[in-house]
Amino acid sequence: MDISAVLNKTELNKEDLVFLLGRTAKDELDQLYSAAYEVKKEWVGSVDYYRGLLEFSNRCIKNCRYCGIRRDNEEVERFDTPKQDIIAMARWCYDRQYGSVTLQSGERQDEAFIDFVEDVVREIKAVGDGALGITLCVGEQTRETYQRWYDAGAHRYLLRIESSNPKLYQTMHPSDGHHRWDVRKACLDSLAEIGYQVGTGVMIGLPGQTLEDLAEDILFYQKQDIAMIGMGPYVVHHNTPLGKQVVEAGLDTPEERADRLRLSVNMVAVTRLFLKDVNIAATTAMQTLHPFGREMALKAGANILMPLVTLPRFRTQYQLYDNKPCLEDGQEQCRNCLSARVASVGDTVGWGQWGDSPHFFNNLK
Ligand code: 5AD
Ligand code: SF4
Repeated sequence: MDISAVLNKTELNKEDLVFLLGRTAKDELDQLYSAAYEVKKEWVGSVDYYRGLLEFSNRCIKNCRYCGIRRDNEEVERFDTPKQDIIAMARWCYDRQYGSVTLQSGERQDEAFIDFVEDVVREIKAVGDGALGITLCVGEQTRETYQRWYDAGAHRYLLRIESSNPKLYQTMHPSDGHHRWDVRKACLDSLAEIGYQVGTGVMIGLPGQTLEDLAEDILFYQKQDIAMIGMGPYVVHHNTPLGKQVVEAGLDTPEERADRLRLSVNMVAVTRLFLKDVNIAATTAMQTLHPFGREMALKAGANILMPLVTLPRFRTQYQLYDNKPCLEDGQEQCRNCLSARVASVGDTVGWGQWGDSPHFFNNLK
């Protein structure tokens, strides 16, 4: 196949997605990324939006085999951010013209947690008279819980499917009955039915993952009618079962990491080409593998940045993977640093706007 011919097609099929995802030669990658950037300009503009990311607690009942804050990692000191600090950070986001704030934590399903989140959402909703968008990223919950939080004022929810292939999903999670692909998929369905703008995503470069799997992930986004996509490379965490397995198999070399990064940027580009009007994040994990990883993603079609607004005293305790950047920075530095990155690729920042995915509204018409 010839890349120019594929890029000129009006509709891409699965075979085309696999072909594009597998490109490695520099001239082909240049063509792929600039075609994706053109689609970004045409459909969502060369404007990037900020979502302040507040990692408010690292307590988690789950034991995902790749994640640094999994339940069984006893090296981690657990923390909870006091409610007034969360509200103060949300206010900071509003004052600094971030369109919205994303509240992320490990997963908990107890009543105290559900109440806490509901309360926090309600109070943030009052900041600026509802002007600050609220996104939740706090895992699998019952439909009733999702509804309560929606009623309290949350309007977006992020829940990564991690892989659209249930078999691959199972290899990354314990088979204890609490980490089930079909449950996660059912959560995504409930969220959409309630009326949330739903975000999902996958990890890229997992052991055993094929280009077909990644093409299927993009088709999954389409089938689920996903409005927001956050995905990034798998990055080793030293004290996890998957991390240890990958290191022992000699699969965490600089070459392997470069491959995972390229594949991640390719995923951003191909997702933009295929889905056109969705929001796609340039994730921190990309920057972990390359100092300019996020810029590469913006140039390949990503349009969302998530500056950290986690309290500085808790940052080192929220490490899902090794070498996470920005641990030493305060929220002001993250803001300035990302603005410089946006300017460096020739984009502008959509200050003070929710920056909803046009996809969500195009679909309501
Ligand atoms: N490498 C990359 N991403 C990870 N996540 C968790 N652990 C890792 C890791 N080791 C991602 C998962 C999860 C999100 C919050 O962080 O995709 O859904
Ligand atoms: Fe918990 Fe999420 Fe990490 Fe899984 S990926 S262990 S659910 S924080």
